[in-house]
Amino acid sequence: MSRLAFIETLRQAAPAILPSLLQCDFGNLQRDIRLLEEAGVPGLHLDVMDGDFVPNFTYGMTIVAAVRKLTKLPLDVHLMISRPERYLKQFCEAGADCVTFHIEAQPEPRPLLEALRQQDVAAGIVLNPGTPVEAIANCLDLCDTVLVMSVEAGFGGQSFNPVALEKLQQVREMAPHVVLEIDGGVNDHTIQRCTQAGAQMLVVGSGIFAHADYAQAVQTLQRLAHTP
Ligand code: DX5
Ligand code: ZN
Repeated sequence: MSRLAFIETLRQAAPAILPSLLQCDFGNLQRDIRLLEEAGVPGLHLDVMDGDFVPNFTYGMTIVAAVRKLTKLPLDVHLMISRPERYLKQFCEAGADCVTFHIEAQPEPRPLLEALRQQDVAAGIVLNPGTPVEAIANCLDLCDTVLVMSVEAGFGGQSFNPVALEKLQQVREMAPHVVLEIDGGVNDHTIQRCTQAGAQMLVVGSGIFAHADYAQAVQTLQRLAHTP
């Protein structure tokens, strides 16, 4: 999918749930992806962690490539790695439709955002809860998405930090063009505050995978996201 098609698909789907595959059943990846497709999600969120930028370690481009083969859904790849510039090309080649990386990992993001644009892949910056929005002010013109973390990046299942809500509103004022994404602790109890603050893409891990029936969990979240 081209960069512009990705942006348009997500914009049209908003507000929408993006399942984070962090807690899916990797022994049954094909089945889990099919279940999520049947639940009608507009894309999938993949969390790449390197055990250095964050203490946790997940997977790299081989899993992104494997997921790519299993679905046509847009893939939103969230890099929680040090020096993300080393691997951008590989994640694009593995089939990412959007790549986001942390401003805390690369304080000079413009060349990376430009490189992603050249690959015709959507690009975005991620902010941890302690990082102010001002840290990305000088590169918002090159961002297709901004991902505001509502937990410290690294682990699923953490509690929602409402500092993200204020930051979503700040980003929206500074950059009306970006697709606003929120990630961490989004569940039945917190999702409405996220959409009220302007979140368009709601990344959900345990709020889906802790339930036996993924489709039902997605439907409940979607209903709440659409209720003002
Ligand atoms: C955390 C990851 C999230 C994580 C969300 O660092 O970026 O995508 O999977 O999981 P929950 O929804 O359980 O907070
Ligand atoms: Zn994530």
